[in-house]
This record gives sequence, structure tokens and C-alpha cells, in this order.
Amino acid sequence: MSHNLVQLRRHRGELRGDDNALQHLKRVMEERREITPADVAAVARATHQPEAAVFGVATYYGDLGTRRRGRTRVKVCKGTACFASCGDASVRWMEDALGLPVDGLSDDGEVSLETVYCLGLCHAGPSVAVEGRVYGGLTPALARSLAADLAHAPGLVPAEQTLPRFEAHGGPAIVLERLCLGIDATRLDAAVAHHAFEGLALALSQRTPSEIIAEVERSQLRGRGGAGFPTATKWKLAAGHASRAEEAFIVCNADEGDPGSYIDKHLMERDPFAVLEGVAIAGYAVGATKGFVYVRSEYPGAAPALRRAVEAARASGWLGARIRGSAFSFDIEVVEGAGSYVCGEETALLRSIEGLRGMVTARPPYPAENGLFGRPTVVNNVETLACLGWIARHGGDAYAALGVGKSRGTKVLSLNERFVRPGMYEVPFGVPLRQVLEGPGGGLREGRPIKAVQIGGPLGGVLPSSLLDAPVGFEELDAVGALLGHGGIVAWDDTVDARDIAEHLFEFCDAESCGKCFPCRIGGRRGLEIAKRLKQPRESAAVEADLALLADLGETMKLGSLCAHGGAIPIPIATLMQHFGDEMRGGAR
Ligand code: SF4
Ligand code: FES
Repeated sequence: MSHNLVQLRRHRGELRGDDNALQHLKRVMEERREITPADVAAVARATHQPEAAVFGVATYYGDLGTRRRGRTRVKVCKGTACFASCGDASVRWMEDALGLPVDGLSDDGEVSLETVYCLGLCHAGPSVAVEGRVYGGLTPALARSLAADLAHAPGLVPAEQTLPRFEAHGGPAIVLERLCLGIDATRLDAAVAHHAFEGLALALSQRTPSEIIAEVERSQLRGRGGAGFPTATKWKLAAGHASRAEEAFIVCNADEGDPGSYIDKHLMERDPFAVLEGVAIAGYAVGATKGFVYVRSEYPGAAPALRRAVEAARASGWLGARIRGSAFSFDIEVVEGAGSYVCGEETALLRSIEGLRGMVTARPPYPAENGLFGRPTVVNNVETLACLGWIARHGGDAYAALGVGKSRGTKVLSLNERFVRPGMYEVPFGVPLRQVLEGPGGGLREGRPIKAVQIGGPLGGVLPSSLLDAPVGFEELDAVGALLGHGGIVAWDDTVDARDIAEHLFEFCDAESCGKCFPCRIGGRRGLEIAKRLKQPRESAAVEADLALLADLGETMKLGSLCAHGGAIPIPIATLMQHFGDEMRGGAR
């Protein structure tokens, strides 16, 4: 009953403004550091929703909860890049330094310790956050220093002082030129001096919406968030529905949850106008009335940077009513999430903007027809949108001239802290992966050999060094059992044990499952148990039985999971078995 009522209100577009339960609960948590039954009842009254629905939201997101948290919340990163830096040692360092277990609260209620999957400082891990201030380079000594003075964090380097490098591979600049050239594109005047909003101006003054869609179709741009779906196809579908709807939306998916990826974070914080311009171009092409950018809360600098950019763009007429004298009116709202990896999946993300539990919904209907508040909605990733200004200016053919096969244009790859020169590299599709990792990336620290590389986040295949000559491309990486995903690359040197990687991945799967479907909800936990057992010395028959069970489990998760979180986790596990089979059997006697 509760569920049906909420769905009805959602379809009527009523879960906005003061009726958004998530935003109410975030404020409660901010003020009091816990959500009590009385708070749930009060929010239910304020939002005209059943208490059960509000309780569901309060207990779903990592930032919320009915358990009390400290006035100072310390969050230590357990993401894959930080795991590659130090195993899970950084968690123990913080536990020892604070004298608190994970999820513990100090006796005076002042400090609590939590874990988090990725703070976007994968180039400088291991990382930790204290009340929205993020630090990299954690060591046991620095953990003690931090615990002794949480307010000032002596000796630790704040994230804003550890800007990652952003370079174009093989030239001074490609598509994301302001970042490649090191322009301070956070200032509107500097960004505009380097072509920001030129694509939007050209679109509004010289192109019809359908001409813009045709241009994007010629560019062969595919979604950069992971799925690689053709952007123009999605737009055409949405434009058809939008033409019959009273409102339609563009949603920028800035919930870059894959540990190891920090590309969208950098774009939002260092070139926010590129993102806003892309949202506005998409809005014009599709006939949308408003844009939203949904940013993960683990990036505390991103939402403020975007909000400042929205204000500046509004003030100079690039957003708002009748943009630059055209007939097109469009505005953008920045919404911050509350700690849930699965909200990167588009249906979960839309539910989160509506203030509901960020759980996955079966498709169809697709968001293009029935999305945010039940209206036609295009969901595009940050990097996808950031390319649109360039495509509008240079034309789709120029973009499609770069690349290989069905992967046209460029892709940014982010390299983890293990590399000699970690950072982001914009490459034309088709460049062999090894060229990037060993060229600009400089190979691994201390001259150690690359043993394993995971591409595209925790759901991507794990490749041995021998397969790194594969070209960067959707199908090209797929052919070697990997996944381009969002382009995050985490490399391990020869000291890692494949069984530790398997355990880490299942732990992530288990921790971040939204719980909607059982193959993932239960499978992640069973997989974690098996992965832990594989590390124990046992009879070889027992190990083989567990490996067979793991293969069966993978098949069930692949076939039965509703979304990629459960459905794709068997991919890295299968590649670990394929390429590191002996090591996976290492516990056998
Ligand atoms: S696969 Fe996992 S994350 Fe996806 S819907 Fe099912 S339970 Fe949720
Ligand atoms: S900052 Fe730890 S994995 Fe990204």
C-alpha cells in the first residue's frame, strides 16, 4: 500500500520541493547525526508520505541512518584504487588511531568512523575524509596525526592541493581542451575565452533541435558512463515523447561511483561550464524544460563548484529564460546524493532525485518515456555531456574522424596511484592500452611489473599484463574479456594475490547491493564467503568444489540479476579464474 501510494504521487510529479523525503532526512542527519522514529514521523507528515516509505529512505543511504554518528564523521576509503595502494590496511590504521572500530562512535559522541567506496582521490590514495575534507597519502603515522587533530589534519595533504594531471595523449589538446591546456575553467570569463558556450550559442542561433540530434548522430557519440549506448538514439526516443509531454528533463548522471574513476569529478570541479553547456545543448535538442545534475555526496567539492557555475551562467544569460535572446528557456538544478553506489544506475538515480530509496526499477518503460517524476527524461553521463560543446562547434564528422570501429571520438582514462604518473589521459579510441599505461602513465612505481589491471570499475574484467596491447574501445576491450566502463583503470603490481582481489570485489558487491533482487543480494554475500574460504589452506577437493560453486553462482548472478551490479560482478571473477587460476587455487594442499 505504502509503495503504491508513493508511486502514484511520483507519477503525478508530486515528490518535489518540500515533498522530497531524502532532502528532509539529509538536513535532519546534518543537524542531529541520527534519524529517530520521531524524525521519520515528522518527515512523513511534512512530505505527505507513509512513515514506512520515509523509514525506507532513512535506512537506505550510507550518509543517513538510524544509528547515531559523531559530530565529526571520519570516512576511510575502501575503494579498489585505495585497496591497490595498501590492501585494507588504511582502515586498520584509522581504527587504531581513533580507537574505534568501523561504524563505531566515541564515548563522548563526537567522532565516528565509517568506510566509503571511493572519494575520487584514486590518484593519491589511500584516502580519508573528515567532514567533507578529503585527504590522500594516508600512512599509519598520518592516521595518528589526523586522529590527534581532526580539525587541522597536520601533515595531510588536502584534495584541492593534490590536483591530478590531465593530459591529452599524443597532442596538446583533443576534445576536453580546457582541461588539457590547464586553463582555470572554473571562472566563467576564462572558460568563455576558451570556447565555453560557443557550441550552445551556435546551436541556438543556427541549428534546429533535430539538426543538433543529427549532428550528434554523425559524431557516433556513445555514453561514456559505461553502457556505451548511442547518445543520439536515446535523444530521438526522448524527443518523441517530450513533444507530447508538458515537461521533460535532462539528467546528468554525476554519480561516478566506480572506484578508480575520478574523471567526472575533475570535469565538474575544474570545467563545470563544459558540463552545463552539454546539459543545455541536450535540453535544446530533446525539447526538455529543465536539467538536473545528480552528484554523489562522496565528492564534497563537486556540487558547490557546479552550483557556483550555475549561478554564474544564469547571471550572464547562459541559463534561464530565453537564453541569450533565443526562444529557448532552460535552467539546471544541482542535486546531491547521499551515499549509494547503485544510484549510478539510471532508474535508481531518478528515484533518488525524487527523494526515494535509490533502488533499480525494471525497464521498460525506459526513462526516455517515463523517467523523472514520470516525465520523459534523458540520462547522460558527465563526460558524454562535456563533449557536446565541441561536437556542436566542430561538427559530428570531426568527432567521428577520431577513434576505431564503433568507438568514435575520445575517452578519458584515469590511472590509479600505483602508477609513476597517475592522472587522467584523454586518448582517441584505438590507442593500445599499454601505450597509455607505460607511456604517459610511466608504468608502476619502483619499476615493478604490472600483474593485473582492472578497467571500467569493479564490474570490469581483470586483465593480465599480456593482454594490455588491446586497443581502447568498447568492443575491443570486450573482446579480451574486459569492459571499458567509465575508463577507470586500477593496476596492481606483482605483490598482489588474485584471491585478495576476488575477496575485495565480492565485499564491494555485497556492501553496495541495493537488495532488490536475490541473485545479487544473496549472491554477493555467498561469493564473499567463498572468496574468504579460498584464502584458507584446505584439501584440493574442497577448493575445487568451491571454485565450481563460484562458477555456478556467477552464472546465476549473470542471468538473474536485475542490473549490472549483480549481473556483471561475475565478469572480473571469471577473468581472475581464467588468468590467475593457479593463484585462485593457492590454498589447495
Ligand atoms: S543486481 Fe543488485 S544492485 Fe542491481 S537491482 Fe539487483 S540487488 Fe539491486
Ligand atoms: S579514493 Fe579510494 S578508491 Fe578512489
